Amino acid sequence: MSYQTIEVRPITGALGAEIEGIDLSTELDNQTFDEVHRALLENLVIFFRDQDLKPDQQIAFARRFGDIHFHPFMKGLDDHPEILELIKEEADTRTFGAVWHTDQMFNPKPALATMLYAKEVPPAGGDTMYANMYMAYDALSDGMKEVAGKLKTFNVGDRMKSHGREARKDRYKGSKAMQAKVKDPGDDVVTEAVHPLVRTHPETGRKAIYLGNHSQHFDGMTEEESAPLLKFFAKHATQPEFVCRFRWKVGSLALWDNRCTQHYAVGDYDGERRRMHRITIAGDRPF
Ligand code: OGA
Ligand code: MN
Repeated sequence: MSYQTIEVRPITGALGAEIEGIDLSTELDNQTFDEVHRALLENLVIFFRDQDLKPDQQIAFARRFGDIHFHPFMKGLDDHPEILELIKEEADTRTFGAVWHTDQMFNPKPALATMLYAKEVPPAGGDTMYANMYMAYDALSDGMKEVAGKLKTFNVGDRMKSHGREARKDRYKGSKAMQAKVKDPGDDVVTEAVHPLVRTHPETGRKAIYLGNHSQHFDGMTEEESAPLLKFFAKHATQPEFVCRFRWKVGSLALWDNRCTQHYAVGDYDGERRRMHRITIAGDRPF
């Protein structure tokens, strides 16, 4: 099906498309919104250029996709708590999100989508990479699909194995601005979850590998038992043929579907500043 109200230009054979002919600061009519939504489902991550958005306008666009999700470990802006400002300053040595992951996988109902809007970008570097988890599933042998279909992952939001089990507060030592945003989620917020390794996308009906840096081991298995297969899936799922890479400019906005992708913030711009406004949209329980 073609598009009537927008132009959709894929940037790789795997995933990702730039959307043209749209001003996100205005209220989108239903046909335009439906086409943007379809472009997201078909391309997994969509990019908009040269957008000039006030926080309220970004929030209004995000709300078209669902309820706003609030990060349990990180504080949003004082006057717009829906927006988490990601900042890497010149002196910072740590990059938020510099591991392959899918957002909020430690939540029993992880984020459906994430919207990232560029306010300040380095002259070079600071790209974001995305990987197509439908392709990762489809490329498995029938035998491995059968094995994968039986596995569940155990996921945590803090003290990840990949971060030497450091608490967030310590983990963000190399990033003063992000460290200042760390908060305690409180006892009533669940930050550990078991999810199927193969999830069915509730809107497309397609199967995708569901895995990321939050995944510690397979449910019902030890870390040692899980490690070889976890490592296989992680490497398999992020091979170059399944990946795209987005070069930011000020005013670029990315929207990705966390149910069928992983992403990676490339931390190659020490000494430069980068500042982004991030909103996550609430999702459902994976099945
Ligand atoms: C995120 C994230 C990537 C980036 O916001 O969830 O991983 O490039 N960001 O900042
Ligand atoms: Mn992320």
